[in-house]
Formats: sequence, C-alpha cells, structure tokens
Amino acid sequence: MATYDLVVIGTGPGGYVCAVRASQLGMKVAVVEKNATLGGTCLNVGCMPSKALLHASEMFEEAGHSFAKMGVSVSSPKLDLPAMMNFKQQGIDGNVKGVEFLMKKNKVDVLKGTGKILGTGKVEVSADGKSQVVETKNIVIATGSDIARLKGIEIDEKRIVSSTGALSLDKVPGKLLIVGAGVIGLELGSVWKRLGAEVVVVEFLDRILPGMDGEIAKQFQRILEKQGFAFKLGAKVTGVDTSGKTLKATVEPAAGGAAETLEADVVLVCIGRVPYTESLGLKEAGVALDNRGRVQIDPHFATSLKGVYAIGDVVAGPMLAHKAEDEGVAVAEIIAGQAGHVNYDVIPGVVYTTPEVSSVGKTEEELKQAGVAYTVGKFPFTANGRSKVNQTTDGFVKILADAKTDRVLGVHIIGIEAGEMIHEACVLMEFGGSAEDLARTCHAHPTRSEAVKEAALAVGKRAIHM
Ligand code: FAD
Ligand code: NAI
Repeated sequence: MATYDLVVIGTGPGGYVCAVRASQLGMKVAVVEKNATLGGTCLNVGCMPSKALLHASEMFEEAGHSFAKMGVSVSSPKLDLPAMMNFKQQGIDGNVKGVEFLMKKNKVDVLKGTGKILGTGKVEVSADGKSQVVETKNIVIATGSDIARLKGIEIDEKRIVSSTGALSLDKVPGKLLIVGAGVIGLELGSVWKRLGAEVVVVEFLDRILPGMDGEIAKQFQRILEKQGFAFKLGAKVTGVDTSGKTLKATVEPAAGGAAETLEADVVLVCIGRVPYTESLGLKEAGVALDNRGRVQIDPHFATSLKGVYAIGDVVAGPMLAHKAEDEGVAVAEIIAGQAGHVNYDVIPGVVYTTPEVSSVGKTEEELKQAGVAYTVGKFPFTANGRSKVNQTTDGFVKILADAKTDRVLGVHIIGIEAGEMIHEACVLMEFGGSAEDLARTCHAHPTRSEAVKEAALAVGKRAIHM
C-alpha cells in the first residue's frame, strides 16, 4: 500500500496548486482525479474555454465593426464555428498538458479514479470497477462545485444548457434565453451575442451582477443594453416547454403576477454553482457540512475529521479559481507547519466581457451597511487620453477610501483591460495603502491605468484631467 504525506482529491486550481506547493515543501504527494483530464472545472469547462471563446468572438466582432473606422478595410468576416471551437479546444489541451507536466516535474503521483475518504489517513480510489486504498498522513478535499439546477427544468446540454453546453453549441442560436444575470450569463451571453444570437437575460433580482458595486452594475447594464442585450429583471423562469421546435419558457415576475411566454432556441441556466461532495463518503467518515452543503472548515482549512482539510469551491467564500489557488498554497504551508494565510479582504473579481468589469474590496453598499465613513474618487475613461485615441471610452474607475485614514477600502472598474488594471489596487490594499499613496505613484503615459491614478487624485478632489 502506497503511503503519502498528502493526498489531494481533485485537480482543479485548488487541488493541483496545493499539490505543487506541498511537493516544494518536501512532502510526498498524490492527487486523485475522476475526470479523464486534470485541471478541474476551470481548465476544462470554466475559466479557460470561456476566455478562449470570449477572445475569439471579440476578434470576430472587432473585425466586423471596429476595423473600418480605424482605416482597416476587411471584407465582412465569416464565422467558422467548428474552427473557433477547435481554437478553444487547443487552449484547453495546452493548459491541461501544462498541469500534467507540473505533476511530473514536482513528482506528484496522479491516481485516476473517484476518491472516497474512509477515515483519517485512508483514501479509496476507484476506477473501472477496481479500487485501491492509499494511506496518507493528510488529505485535502478540493472537489470543487457543480452547476445549480432549476426545479422542473431538465438540462440536456443541447437545447437547455448549463455553462458546459453553452461552451460547445454546434450552431449560433437565433434566440438565446439566459436565466441569471451573473458572471456566466453575461460572459457567455456576450460570446453568443457577438456571434449573432439575440440574447435575453431573465434575472430574479432587480439588478445584474449581485455582489458587485451597484453604480458599476447599473452602468454596465446600460453598456450591455447598447450592445443589444435585453434584460428582464425581477423575473424568474418557472418552466420550459420543450415539445415544439422552439422552446417556450414561462417567465413570471419574481414578486408574483401574470406570466408571459418567451420563445428561444437555446436556454442557458446559470443561477450559481453548488459545492460538489458526491461519492466522497463524507457523512460516513465524519466530515461535517455546513447548512449550504459546503465542507465546514476552521480558519486553518481543517474539517471536523483529524488530518482532513478542504479548500476551493467546495468550502465557503467566492467560487473563484484564484481564491482556490491561494487556499491550496496556504493549506499546504499549514500542513508543513508554516503560517499559510489567505487575505479574504483582497480577492479581486473580474467579468471578462467587453468592456471588462473588475472589483476588489468593499462596495459602496457594503460600506454604507457597515456604517463606515468613506470618500469616493471617480474618473471616467472619456477623460483618459489613451482611451480617447483608441475610441474605447466606456466606463470609469471608482475608488472608495476611509474618510478618516484615507486607506483604500475598495476599487471598482468598468473598462477595457479592467481585469489587468485591478492588480495595482490589490497590491496597494495588501500593503494597507492610501488613496494618496496611489495618487503619488508615477503611472506611465499614455496608459489606461492613469485613470486609476486620476481616480485616486479625485478622492482628494484634485484630479488633473477632469
Ligand atoms: P474544480 O476546478 O471544480 O475542480 C475539482 C476537481 O475535482 C474536478 O476535476 C473534479 O473532477 C474532481 N473531483 C470531484 N470529486 C472527486 C472525487 N470524489 N474524486 C476525484 N476527483 C474528484 N473562476 C475565475 O476565477 N475566473 C474565471 O474566469 C472563471 N470562469 C469560469 C467560467 C465558467 C463557465 C465556470 C463554470 C466557472 C468559472 N470560474 C472562474 C470558477 C472556477 O472554475 C472555479 O472557482 C474553480 O475551478 C474552483 O477550483 P477548485 O479547485 O475548487 O475545483
Ligand atoms: P452567479 O452567482 O454569478 O449569478 C447567478 C445569477 O442568477 C444571480 O444574479 C442570481 O440572482 C440569479 N438567479 C438565481 N436564481 C434565479 C432564478 N431562479 N431565476 C433568475 N435568476 C436567478 O452564478 P453563475 O453566473 O452561474 O456563475 C457561477 C459562479 O462561477 C460565479 O459565482 C463565479 O464564482 C464563477 N464564475 C466566475 C467567473 C469569473 O470570475 N469571470 C466567470 C464565470 C463563473
């Protein structure tokens, strides 16, 4: 029987990063993966394929709509969807192979099969009707999440799809009905909108992107509407009739009232994700879950069973790849006797649409609710020179700083490359920096990031270009 210092169940960004860090720290490590390929949701059916399609569809859109105004004349672009899907697959393959390489390089054993915890120090790995038990000093559960389903609406991944099916449609739907105006709905809605679909998004709440700063969400909704998105807010889909050639969705006001029927070729259900703990044998082994089905952990990622830890989407917190990765590093360091730590106050979130939306720290709503006195500095991209010459001026930067200390508490950006720009705010906040620190940091000209500096100057009411 093989004996390890650490067995990690799941090879998503949480699991494989944890395995690499543990190996760096001198542990003998194995990972268990039930899927044919390593990399988890993120690499196979999440972050990476969606970003490949977002990039390709954006190029298609640009070639059709933006090239001519810059004096680049091309004949009207034609969509070759199988080639675009092939581009996506090449990206997936490249990244998955990268994880295989990292496992080899770090001498991490890859055990293919479904992992089940038999108790402290024992993991059963089953595949193709056979099973083996491995012994280990520590176990990390990194089994991620699964799609949340809508009662009475069966996902067939052809006409009624989750994000997984929406990443692999074999033709552009004439009408795409999206249930949920969260990150997946807006990213994958953007992909198919750019490729020609008519997109209607039905959202239960009275706003899009819950959790993001309200002012940012409002402006983003206006930008998306300009792009052709239609939103039905404060509404829910209660059923989909699949009997005809066209799907017929019943849409009801969330507050109750008369229902209407919306027709669609494809319905995308993206109403969130749920922790994935199937087949792990947690109940029998004595690993407690919380009231939302997530593996319960203490501040050091330890579960209720000695020697068993959990990280990533399967535990509380934002379901984001980089949060899972940072937890993977932290738990490996804790197991090695070091002081692994994740700063949950500084976890950026990015929506990879055009323009992008990014955010770190507190929103204005959260500060109000907590009774924190704050100052706001805003700067629009219409006043940023680089954005002006590129004629991509949608959006703005918003900085929230403590009214007394000037410490930056939150930064929110809509704009091209907002997902890259947010990181200077992350570093600043990690070091407890102030708006004044940011305002006095020299920024290269001409860059979009100058808008971040100007927003910081605006906190002190002294922006230069506004
Ligand atoms: P996962 O990546 O879900 O990996 C878990 C792994 O565990 C899987 O490979 C699974 O097969 C395996 N497993 C489960 N149970 C067992 C078992 N019993 N035995 C063996 N193996 C098991 N996040 C971002 O930060 N940025 C993005 O741009 C982004 N885009 C996304 C787009 C989409 C369409 C989706 C669906 C998600 C996206 N996410 C994004 C979220 C991101 O994918 C997750 O937060 C991340 O994958 C979580 O990592 P994880 O390691 O916790 O779990
Ligand atoms: P989400 O939580 O972002 O959004 C779900 C939306 O559906 C919410 O606005 C919610 O109010 C709405 N909703 C819930 N029930 C509904 C109903 N019955 N009818 C209508 N609307 C309803 O979840 P989403 O988009 O499914 O994504 C899942 C997770 O995956 C995200 O929370 C995020 O953690 C991760 N992700 C991250 C990405 C990124 O970082 N760029 C990209 C894609 C996914």
